[in-house]
Amino acid sequence: MLLEKYFEGRRKIINKALDKYLPSADIYPQKIHKAMRYSIFAGGKRLRSILLIATYEMLVNRHTSRALQKLLPLAAAIEMLHTASLIHDDLPFIDNADERRGKPSCHKKFGNAIAILTGDALITKAFETILKLNNHKKALQCLEILLDAASTRGMIGGQVVDLTSAQKRVKLHVLRDIHLKKTGALLRAAEQMACVMANATKQVTNALSDFALNIGLAYQVIDDILDEVGADELLGKESGEDQRNERVTYPVLLGIEESKKQALKLIHDAHNIIKYMPNNQVLTEFLETIRDRVP
Ligand code: IPE
Ligand code: IPE
Ligand code: MG
Ligand code: MG
Ligand code: MG
Repeated sequence: MLLEKYFEGRRKIINKALDKYLPSADIYPQKIHKAMRYSIFAGGKRLRSILLIATYEMLVNRHTSRALQKLLPLAAAIEMLHTASLIHDDLPFIDNADERRGKPSCHKKFGNAIAILTGDALITKAFETILKLNNHKKALQCLEILLDAASTRGMIGGQVVDLTSAQKRVKLHVLRDIHLKKTGALLRAAEQMACVMANATKQVTNALSDFALNIGLAYQVIDDILDEVGADELLGKESGEDQRNERVTYPVLLGIEESKKQALKLIHDAHNIIKYMPNNQVLTEFLETIRDRVP
């Protein structure tokens, strides 16, 4: 793990930005601000924001913390949106999960009503935070990217079809589409926003978007596997969630071994996309940390 220090350093910078952009817990109405901070700072690997920063740094070939200050509204926004999706995902009428990030889930700690509103508050705060970018043209472009990723064409759409496919033996291409949307869309947004900030060409943006979709699909396939094999510690929550909710998953359709093979192939394909890009060390290591999750 050559770059563990890099990831740790970036995580600290991202957490500082989240602290700056979130309302303080003593601001009225305190309850919602406390709940927003509780879920954001309960843990979280900050994968999406690290990917955004690492991609930007690769494209501009600068690695100072000063160079990435201007990205911080985007890094914070994507983590707020992601945490909101997890709070809603855990609700009793969706996945009914009591734990998240190794702690009681938002609704377990604050109740269902406040958890719904905390998700809503983090979503609206995410879009407000994007508008803190100094460059208004880029802010608008990033706003459009993140809105599309969150929308019924992206994460929300994926979550809906995930729910409505429960107890059904849907075909693999439908499941693939669910995973690409519920998990891939936000990762792709991280890449697209990094490309906007670095003035990348359309060709590079398209390549990195595909890279992110491969990662997103692989990541969700691995999550399905970890949920099935009982990797509670790694997941930071109680496993067996998918079986309990009769969700269609890669292991249900393909079995554990074939699901692992597919995940490794997706990571391999992602690597092929970036392997000739200059300064790709950090993204390569990022892929390795995802591959390391395969049990
Ligand atoms: C969890 O995402 C939801 C999935 C897409 C499987 P992460 O594993 O990135 O969650 P945190 O942010 O680190 O808690
Ligand atoms: C959730 O997928 C993906 C989201 C967009 C929230 P899961 O339901 O499999 O995520 P976990 O297992 O609860 O983290
Ligand atoms: Mg779910
Ligand atoms: Mg879930
Ligand atoms: Mg899961």
